[in-house]
Amino acid sequence: MSAGPLAEAMQRIARDMDSAFDGLLPVPTDARARLVEAMRYATIGGGKRIRPLLLIATSEIYGVDHTSAIYAAVAIESIHAYSLIHDDLPCMDNDAMRHGKPTVHKAFDEATAVLAGDALHAFAFELLADQATSGDPFTRAELVRTLGNASGLSGMAGGQMMDIVAESESFDLPTITRLQQLKTGALLGAAVEMGAILGRVGPEGRTQLRGYARDIGLAFQIADDLLDHDGDESAAGKALRKDAAAGKQTFVSLLGPDRAREQARMLVDQAISHLAGHGAEANLLRAVARFIVERNH
Ligand code: IPE
Ligand code: IPE
Ligand code: MG
Ligand code: MG
Ligand code: MG
Repeated sequence: MSAGPLAEAMQRIARDMDSAFDGLLPVPTDARARLVEAMRYATIGGGKRIRPLLLIATSEIYGVDHTSAIYAAVAIESIHAYSLIHDDLPCMDNDAMRHGKPTVHKAFDEATAVLAGDALHAFAFELLADQATSGDPFTRAELVRTLGNASGLSGMAGGQMMDIVAESESFDLPTITRLQQLKTGALLGAAVEMGAILGRVGPEGRTQLRGYARDIGLAFQIADDLLDHDGDESAAGKALRKDAAAGKQTFVSLLGPDRAREQARMLVDQAISHLAGHGAEANLLRAVARFIVERNH
């Protein structure tokens, strides 16, 4: 697939996400307005929407109803947006820029940022439990379990804890790999898995998709660390050169940028090889895998 269809799909999904968040998060006329403004600020008009793209691209292989896929995609993007709001707080990475604009705690204040993260976290599970996501209660429960698992102790939050410890303790390569799998890979994996759940994919199909997701998850975080090392801040829309300054161990600090890049490319090839059982219907997933290491933002 050329860059064209991927760019077209990314624009389509960005539009769908913007209008879904806009419709689902109306600003109330009471004192909660500031909270909803902050939730909207964090979710509308920014980010690559990689997790929605993975979820929707997977679900489209299996002919899932578009509204269901959009609801589940909004849920996972809400978790992602919450994780970024909290990641940027002064008590974590203390960042001032995100998606090319001031971070939520800079544009609002810290208390509002904490609450916007909390509310987006809850919102994700409320959406997954909604009939609009799936008419089948078992499917809804599986979606909730999958996203919960990928967000908490066994996923993103657990990885963020390890990431903080990685500033002061020395980790070996297998431990850094596990850190990255939890911090970033788990949620990317959940995006693919949730598409598969909606598509009622059987065990064999799931195994292939999980192999794909595991490899792109690791490649994605290596690419993020490489961007931090030698990327362009205006393209990335966030402050870079922060990992080395914080003494944080990453694939780049352990392997050096050249070997890290090589490793990321190898993982992408491996990810694509897991899709060998699919034809052209999986081209979007193949294109996403390539984009993950070629991106500059
Ligand atoms: C950034 O994620 C944080 C990581 C998990 C590395 P994204 O690169 O997907 O963030 P967006 O695209 O700016 O939302
Ligand atoms: C954050 O990782 C990952 C999350 C779970 C939010 P980073 O701290 O490396 O992400 P950036 O570089 O700020 O986007
Ligand atoms: Mg961080
Ligand atoms: Mg950060
Ligand atoms: Mg980073």
